Amino acid sequence: MNDTTTHNTPAAGWSGNPVAVITGASQGLGLALARGLAERGWSLVIDARTPDKLAAADYELSKLTTVIALAGDVTDDDHRADLAEAAADLGGASLLVNNASALGGSPMPALAAFPLPDLLATFEVNVLAPLALAQLLLPQLREHGGEIVNISSDAAVEPYAGWGGYGASKAALDHASAILALEEPKVRVWAVDPGDLRTQMHQDAFPGEDISDLPLPETVVPGFLRLIDERRPSGRYQASDLLPAAPAAVADAEVA
Ligand SMILES: NC(=O)c1ccc[n+]([C@@H]2O[C@H](COP(=O)([O-])OP(=O)(O)OC[C@H]3O[C@@H](n4cnc5c(N)ncnc54)[C@H](OP(=O)(O)O)[C@@H]3O)[C@@H](O)[C@H]2O)c1
Repeated sequence: MNDTTTHNTPAAGWSGNPVAVITGASQGLGLALARGLAERGWSLVIDARTPDKLAAADYELSKLTTVIALAGDVTDDDHRADLAEAAADLGGASLLVNNASALGGSPMPALAAFPLPDLLATFEVNVLAPLALAQLLLPQLREHGGEIVNISSDAAVEPYAGWGGYGASKAALDHASAILALEEPKVRVWAVDPGDLRTQMHQDAFPGEDISDLPLPETVVPGFLRLIDERRPSGRYQASDLLPAAPAAVADAEVA
């Protein structure tokens, strides 16, 4: 753990490691963040719906740290309660990463023809579930002076045709994050746009297209770790803005 972190004194029964709950951590950005935190000694509670992929992530991460992996859907009340209970068993969550997300279809439908059950499901995964999990974990997060990372997208602020369901849900998540931050002074609440990444979700958004030029999720993890290390104020961030400047850019800035 970096010395600049300011998590509160551990509660009774605490194993010595801060605890992070990360949804959708079997692949993509969620798994990359889980790896980054595990390497720094965080204990993890992770989930995803597909048991075998989650088991593979659990196997890998368990070589680095304590992991509780629970297969389930973030929209399921009982599953969310199990996640919160697992975090409590490890000593209480210091960090919640609401990463699991729904695209709303592949290809994504235009709003005029968006099947309403799919639109509802998109909002359930991307807005309702993150807030519901935050409600369950806030007592633990307050006790630890903890943090919530809600994974956003540029589609929350840019109106791309075809991205109405997903984009509107991420905009709602951004706004809810900002209000939660005002209401919860003991907890940092960050909405973070990770940027375009080479993941299954991005491939699903552009079926059949070559996305091999996009950066891997691991490339933005240092930005997230910096946010946590420096305990930046609550707000909306772009992961790319938090990455250490490339040497050439630093040199340019010094000349200017
Ligand atoms: N990739 C990009 O370019 C990009 C850009 C901007 C924002 N984002 C955001 O970044 C985050 C991560 O996306 P990603 O690209 O890494 O996606 P990904 O590779 O498709 O991974 C998504 C993860 O979430 C899990 N998941 C999905 N729905 C779930 C549910 N209902 N309950 C529990 N787990 C669920 C998936 O496993 P199962 O399918 O087995 O459940 C998987 O582990 C998302 O919030 C996304 O909106 C991504």
